[in-house]
Amino acid sequence: MIFLGIETSCDETAAAIVNENGILSNLVYSQLEEHRPFGGVVPEIAARSHIEHLDSLIKRALDETELTFSDLDGIAATAGPGLIGGLMIGLTMAKSVALVHDLPLIAVNHLEAHALTPRLTSDLNFPYLLLLVSGGHCQFLIVTGVGCYRRLGTTIDDAPGEAFDKVARMVGLEYPGGPAIEKAATHGKGDRYLLPRPLKGRAGCDFSFSGLKTAVSRLVETGKVLDEDIPDLCASFQEAVADILTDRLHHATLTFTAAHGKGPLVLAGGVAANRVLRARLAAKALELGFSFVAPPTSLCTDNAAMVAWVGVERFRLGMVDDLSAAPRARWPLDPNATPKIGAGVKA
Ligand code: KG4
Ligand code: ZN
Repeated sequence: MIFLGIETSCDETAAAIVNENGILSNLVYSQLEEHRPFGGVVPEIAARSHIEHLDSLIKRALDETELTFSDLDGIAATAGPGLIGGLMIGLTMAKSVALVHDLPLIAVNHLEAHALTPRLTSDLNFPYLLLLVSGGHCQFLIVTGVGCYRRLGTTIDDAPGEAFDKVARMVGLEYPGGPAIEKAATHGKGDRYLLPRPLKGRAGCDFSFSGLKTAVSRLVETGKVLDEDIPDLCASFQEAVADILTDRLHHATLTFTAAHGKGPLVLAGGVAANRVLRARLAAKALELGFSFVAPPTSLCTDNAAMVAWVGVERFRLGMVDDLSAAPRARWPLDPNATPKIGAGVKA
């Protein structure tokens, strides 16, 4: 079964081809340089760039694999959540290909793509406990099947990726902040600055990062953080994020265990690319009797292989969409979960 995937929900234009055994082609055009001068993603620039690059990426993915549209079993495109302009472009492209080549269409939830990626790269069965950490989301979910998600907790303000990006900006590091902070922190002392760990020790598994971000901002405003202090500040910030995530993990595993016993902890989303966070979460999971699974770092950040993979998973179960599928700026994975104030819209 061969699927073409398209991803255009934010600032990566991506096309990929996967089959049931793995990735055949995985192309990502990062718009980073186009957005960098603005310190964040500019929706209008993103949409124009998707239009400019998407068709040539699809052509290259087919050329690389020596396949044509008629070799495909279906086409999958991200339909939400994300920036609406980009979503419209990717989904409309997918619909056109589906219509012209008479292929089934799968309109993909970007969060589900992150959530199921570990099943593409590891031998992973349901159920599992998922920690989804990205630029717009921070959630614990119990995943019992394709399309079956129960949210245990979420952020009540910022997402961790957003906090990484904002802190990086405060200390003059480049966008995106996650990789820049991780790099700077490798030379820093994580115990130099005592930063808050909001909600640590509290019941439940919600998250909060805004107090941590504000504490960094106050420190920087004092003017006492010099260039040579930035590695220590980055390491201290990263350490605080790791402490928050591992503390909340403890609570999430209790809820998971009550329903399903000990299961795998699966880490996904852009922030899952951070090696320090991966190591801390893996160690904590093992301590709690859970195994640990995370996709390779290159598949944590946005890509189209994860979208094509949802195509394969859904198609196998007969979960196909039609041409009336609409893009959705907001699209929670667990429809029964109450939205929390300030929680981000993108993945
Ligand atoms: O899932 P993703 O690629 O895109 C969306 O959020 O849609 O996640 C991007 C986020 C950004 O905020 C970025 O700073 C963060 O993931 N990120 C990282 C790292 N790599 C990317 N955060 C911490 N450490 C990293 N190495
Ligand atoms: Zn994402």
